[in-house]
Amino acid sequence: MEHISVLREEVLRALDPKPNEDFIDCTVNGGGHAKAILEKTAPSGRLLGIDWNQRVIENCKLKIDNFTERTVLICDNFAHLEKIAKKEGFGSVDGILFDLGISSWHLERSGKGFSFLRDEPLDMRYGAEYQISNLKTQNFLTAEKIINKWSEKEIEKNLREYGQEKFSKTIARKIVQAREIKPIATTFQLVDIIKQAIPTRYQHQRIHFATRTFQAIRIAVNDELNNLKTALPQAVNILKTQGRLVVISFHSLEDGIVKNFLRDSVKNGFLKPLNAKPMLASKAELMANKRARSAKLRAAIKI
Ligand SMILES: C[S@@+](CC[C@H](N)C(=O)[O-])C[C@H]1O[C@@H](n2cnc3c(N)ncnc32)[C@H](O)[C@@H]1O
Repeated sequence: MEHISVLREEVLRALDPKPNEDFIDCTVNGGGHAKAILEKTAPSGRLLGIDWNQRVIENCKLKIDNFTERTVLICDNFAHLEKIAKKEGFGSVDGILFDLGISSWHLERSGKGFSFLRDEPLDMRYGAEYQISNLKTQNFLTAEKIINKWSEKEIEKNLREYGQEKFSKTIARKIVQAREIKPIATTFQLVDIIKQAIPTRYQHQRIHFATRTFQAIRIAVNDELNNLKTALPQAVNILKTQGRLVVISFHSLEDGIVKNFLRDSVKNGFLKPLNAKPMLASKAELMANKRARSAKLRAAIKI
């Protein structure tokens, strides 16, 4: 299934792109938001699109081929935002977008074990074979390593803190017991173990019983919360005065980081909030795109 960009209209309203302005999309993926921005910034506004996945970048190149001469696509971790932006001539821009997390492509086509509905090797790295601009920071941690090498205590803490999983203790114990018999190599092996750890009445809730565990492992593998914490102040540094920062988050851990960062930056006089409350998806969007149900958009202007 094609990835549907969430909160597309809200992103445009918040970023307010005008002709000839320059933007950075830190999570460009299929280029849905990027294209919408480029349409508004004609004839000569430029866009720097970053994504941690090389295959995603290659797909994006094909999708935004109408805008090639105004677009620069870079495969890297947005934790290196300021360095990338300066190197590519985007050291002072009108707006920056983060649309965090995974896309439908990662779940359905990456083959990296992001989805508990597909039997794939436990990898979950957004980027691994790539990291072109900074080879030293290659990500060697995989979901398979966490599941097979981390101690029961470390796994339990990960599931509790990053997954807010109330059965973290039992799941961690079952994982350690199972790997003593044979290594846990695939997503379906892991799903079976989680199922054994969760009381039957919790196995048929609205949210699949493996969701929280998969989220927790994915966050740890990609160091997602630290990447975000590192990138946000860099974004403010490279925004022009009156430039706009827009962040879409999908769970409370991410949203908490964004909310605190904006609150502190407002208190310290760097930013002005664009909305008192986060923007959420409309009813119509929720009907068309399930992923939008947990999306929260926060935005601010540099002063
Ligand atoms: C939800 S998708 C973005 C969808 C995009 N806005 C669109 O309209 O198609 C998030 C993307 O962010 C990328 N990503 C996640 N963490 C990243 C990081 N630290 N640095 C760069 N890209 C990252 C993922 O590879 C994924 O492609």
